Amino acid sequence: MTDAVQTPSNGDFTKRVFSGVQPTGALTLGNYLGALKRFVDMQNEDYETIYCIVDLHAITVWQDPEQLKNNTRQLAAFYIASGLNPEKSILFNQSAVSEHAELGWIFNCVARMGWMKRMTQFKDKAGKNAENASLGLFGYPALMAADILLYDATHVPVGEDQKQHLELSRDIANKFNLDFNSPDFLVPPEPLIQKKFARIMSLKDGMKKMSKSDPSELSRINLNDSSDQILNKIKKAKTDAEPLPDDESKLANRPEAENLLGIYSSLCDQTLSKTINEFAGKNFSDFKEKLANLVVDKISPISSEINKLLKDENFIDKVLSDGAGKASQIASEKIKNIKKIIGF
Ligand code: AMP
Ligand code: TRP
Repeated sequence: MTDAVQTPSNGDFTKRVFSGVQPTGALTLGNYLGALKRFVDMQNEDYETIYCIVDLHAITVWQDPEQLKNNTRQLAAFYIASGLNPEKSILFNQSAVSEHAELGWIFNCVARMGWMKRMTQFKDKAGKNAENASLGLFGYPALMAADILLYDATHVPVGEDQKQHLELSRDIANKFNLDFNSPDFLVPPEPLIQKKFARIMSLKDGMKKMSKSDPSELSRINLNDSSDQILNKIKKAKTDAEPLPDDESKLANRPEAENLLGIYSSLCDQTLSKTINEFAGKNFSDFKEKLANLVVDKISPISSEINKLLKDENFIDKVLSDGAGKASQIASEKIKNIKKIIGF
């Protein structure tokens, strides 16, 4: 077996997926259902899949170096425990393939200030203190475009919040092709925005996203929660006074009910309407018991696998460095052509 990787010049792939997650701390059920589970499902479909732990993006906000290293390994373990097969998908960390930073710089020179200033995530993240934000946080979407365009990725699964960044990637690709008279050289990627159960909401407030940064522990299921913690959190999850509805349309003003039914459906890989039929007219207490058992059944094997994997750092490091080797084969070829086009 060689490590040969298909590229547009030597292969005949038609669909290549690229996505990234930042290694910035504890992982939740929202990360699993909204990102990792989907990524792994795509590996088993008709795509070539490349997944990146975006540590260069992480340092746009200061990270403790030891913590960054641990979080990177933890995220790699999370990918593998969720079913990512390193023989099938490429898994690597961004800083190990220097072409990302190199192309990120080039794209800083392609992207326009006016485009960057419109990015809502920067405004949200920098908040009132924008003067004190890093320049990297402002340039973040240009680096994200580099991640994607280095690999000629055709499809990029991301959450709704990243849609604007993907549009910017398309703009950068088009402007580069135009500025350097190289039609079709960079491939504007198609976003794959998950519609079903795209946002897993807080267990305490159905209008707020489940997030690792929520001050309330009861608002989220962490992937390293014990079974007892999971049971307790689901038991205490906010609900409303009505029994469960018999029709999807009746969920309109019941965000907590919708979220819990959505989590159930997503974990079982079934439609929301099937779950609704299953529980129509039941009390929350019956449903919550089933849901809690399901979450434990699905999450516990992942968290124990993460813990097992984390005991073997050499294994994780080897998966990442093998992945970086394969990613480099594609990235170095592309950057060579980019440099030629630019006149370096
Ligand atoms: P973050 O933890 O916000 O950096 O997000 C990492 C990945 O997990 C991104 O692809 C997010 O879209 C996804 N994600 C995070 N929280 C949720 C959530 N509550 N529901 C769905 N997806 C989420
Ligand atoms: N910005 C993405 C997020 O915060 C992470 C990311 C970085 C990414 N590079 C990417 C996602 C390339 C998709 C493709 O979720």
